[in-house]
Amino acid sequence: MATIIDGRLVSKQILEAAAAHAAELSERGIRPALAVVIVGDDPASRVYVDNKKKDCAKTGIASYEYTLPADTQQGELLAIIRGLNSRKDIHGILVQLPLPAHLDEKEVLCAISPLKDVDAFHPVNVGHIMIGDFTLLPCTPAGVMELLSAYGVSPAGKHCVIIGRSNIVGKPMAMLMLKADATVTVCHSKTRGLADITRQADILVAAVGKAGFVTADMVKPGAVVIDVGMNRNSEGKLCGDVDFEAVEKIAGMITPVPGGVGVMTRAMLMRNTLTAAENLEDNR
Ligand code: GUN
Repeated sequence: MATIIDGRLVSKQILEAAAAHAAELSERGIRPALAVVIVGDDPASRVYVDNKKKDCAKTGIASYEYTLPADTQQGELLAIIRGLNSRKDIHGILVQLPLPAHLDEKEVLCAISPLKDVDAFHPVNVGHIMIGDFTLLPCTPAGVMELLSAYGVSPAGKHCVIIGRSNIVGKPMAMLMLKADATVTVCHSKTRGLADITRQADILVAAVGKAGFVTADMVKPGAVVIDVGMNRNSEGKLCGDVDFEAVEKIAGMITPVPGGVGVMTRAMLMRNTLTAAENLEDNR
């Protein structure tokens, strides 16, 4: 049976360190602050935003929520972001995704100051990640790297197979794994012979968005399986992309859902907000 990678435990340690960092900044007269913008009333986004606010409160970070109606126009949203960019008391800006279909997500993400871009989705930050020069790291892939490190898994020389090529997870995950000296394969919906490739993985990262997508026959015995999925099964229960019960019997290590990657993403957002606060204040 696989070792269960306990994201709650690791994220708790990161949040404790973040709280100590926030207290240190506060002693220097810096009150770290995160602005979260949510457009519309997507229930999953609502939960994510509420969790971010709770994490901020626990960590000692001020949070400001901007809730905008679903029919908000592009220009109005851009104006709000520009206002937040120029505010000295705000260090991090996060626009919750997905945005309603009529809004241009790319333009919105480009409008956020790269210095306040705590998601690391701005092309300038994506470019930093490409060249291995990390300041603000994308929260989910960074959380995965922290989990591996906490469990003594070094990606160096290993074959890491990532299923999913999104800008939020798959692509930046590949960059962080390359930086950590893994050999990386990125698979996606058009990949042929997927199971033959995933069976070669020493570290398998599933970021597909489909419950039960990764089955036991796709996993090499002893592999480290990281489940980034956040889905609801037919009973409405939260579950990942991996058939956990079957895969835990053959994997070496596996992350559960919930209690694996998701809590790490939250913790890394707090760390990024503090990094942004420190960088912005040091450069004033
Ligand atoms: N929606 C789902 N995941 C994320 C994320 O990491 N950042 C933002 N801004 N929105 C999301």
